[in-house]
Amino acid sequence: MDQEKSTIQPADLRGILNYVPRFLGQTFVVSIDGSIIDHANLPNILLDIAVLRSLQINVVIVHGIGTQLKNLSEQRSIPISNADGSGVTDEATLDLAIRASSRVSHQILEGLTQSGLKCAITNSIRAKPKGIIKGEDFHRSGTVELIDASFLQHLIDKSIIPIIQPIGFDRNGHTLRINSDALAIDVAIALKATKVLFLAETSGLSVDGNLKRQLPVEELQSILQKEEATAIDPLLLEKANQALRGAMADISRIHLLDGRIHDGLISEVFSNEGVGTLIYGNEYARIRKARKDEVAPLYHLMRSAIEKEELAQKDMNSIESGIDTFYVYEVDGNLIGCVAIVEYPEKPDTIEISSLHVHPLYQRQGIGVKLVNFACHAGAESGTKTALALSTQSFEFFKSVCGFAVADTEALPASRLAAYQESGRQSKILSKSLTS
Ligand SMILES: CC(C)(COP(=O)(O)OP(=O)(O)OC[C@H]1O[C@@H](n2cnc3c(N)ncnc32)[C@H](O)[C@@H]1OP(=O)(O)O)[C@@H](O)C(=O)NCCC(=O)NCCS
Repeated sequence: MDQEKSTIQPADLRGILNYVPRFLGQTFVVSIDGSIIDHANLPNILLDIAVLRSLQINVVIVHGIGTQLKNLSEQRSIPISNADGSGVTDEATLDLAIRASSRVSHQILEGLTQSGLKCAITNSIRAKPKGIIKGEDFHRSGTVELIDASFLQHLIDKSIIPIIQPIGFDRNGHTLRINSDALAIDVAIALKATKVLFLAETSGLSVDGNLKRQLPVEELQSILQKEEATAIDPLLLEKANQALRGAMADISRIHLLDGRIHDGLISEVFSNEGVGTLIYGNEYARIRKARKDEVAPLYHLMRSAIEKEELAQKDMNSIESGIDTFYVYEVDGNLIGCVAIVEYPEKPDTIEISSLHVHPLYQRQGIGVKLVNFACHAGAESGTKTALALSTQSFEFFKSVCGFAVADTEALPASRLAAYQESGRQSKILSKSLTS
């Protein structure tokens, strides 16, 4: 790396270390516009990707080809029907798109190889023709029909970075051109990625001319819902719409940043301020207070864990009397997780996270952590200093995954200590400070 141009100081590494446990094992989709591929900063971006990999963050690269397609069209004097894959793709344009894609993918392959990273160009995208819209035939333009997520995950698990071209194949193996912004979001949804980073020739998303550093998804939605979304630069409208689609589909963070800035990618990922625009969803959107008529579904959800003594004994009556403490995690109208936040009048600075359960079919998808984080967040918001959890079989989950520490009985409020001793369950007591 060019030392003189680097804006990251050695002291920043300490800051970066704070993010390491948070991002460990997560998947980021980096979407690089065609305009950035030909920019002098591309080698630095690929080096930044090597840094992400060294921190055990999984990376998938999706690239665009708009600039290369326009250049090829000029060089060969072949007119193109559309450059970014959102319009009509005629046969001549498709042919140039395939050539442009091969060249761009090769450039990325070359750069990653120079950083010692393994990577692979895949045929993991099944596409379907856009078809005829309002009487117009889009010919060889397509949209994603299916993503072979297990194939991509297999590569990721082997430390291979998938490089995804804005090209897909239909059921019969015929080639279709796909818009890379939409593709990046589709790939991220299929892989349950936590971040999408769009690298383009823009400093971020401006609303009515004012650059936004952070934009909650609800705000973006209301801007885009207006009949004429004039508040946003028309050149960024497609990205903004795709970002909204991604945030609504549970990708918690979508970034739009200038791919020409040295260290931009690293600065965006590892600092609170960032260098572009962060569009963020409400990560607790699926969690809500339990309703009074949900005693029976809650009991059925928890029953198997109660029988296995993973959860303390409780019946419908005890759930009913504590229903106001329960929160549920809902997917498509079904309760698939729950947690209770119990307060103690004699120790108002402490809450207990209790009755945590995730339906076995939905476990290991981050829902348990989300419920615990939600409870901690709610506790901190109401001024609570400490969260407690008592567990017989999931103490490692609280300790290693949720950042709790083992505590002793002194941490328990008096009434809870009495119940603890009476139960004889010998649960481990875990505690987490909510003030740091
Ligand atoms: C504990 C529980 C809530 C976790 O829910 P989840 O949605 O699967 O958790 P997440 O997906 O957020 O986190 C999964 C991580 O936690 C780890 N984990 C889950 N249960 C664990 C346990 N009992 N011990 C150690 N680690 C555990 C997983 O190995 C996984 O780690 P990985 O990401 O490194 O692979 C769920 O397993 C459950 O409902 N268990 C039965 C009820 C129970 O024990 N509740 C706690 C009562 S105090």
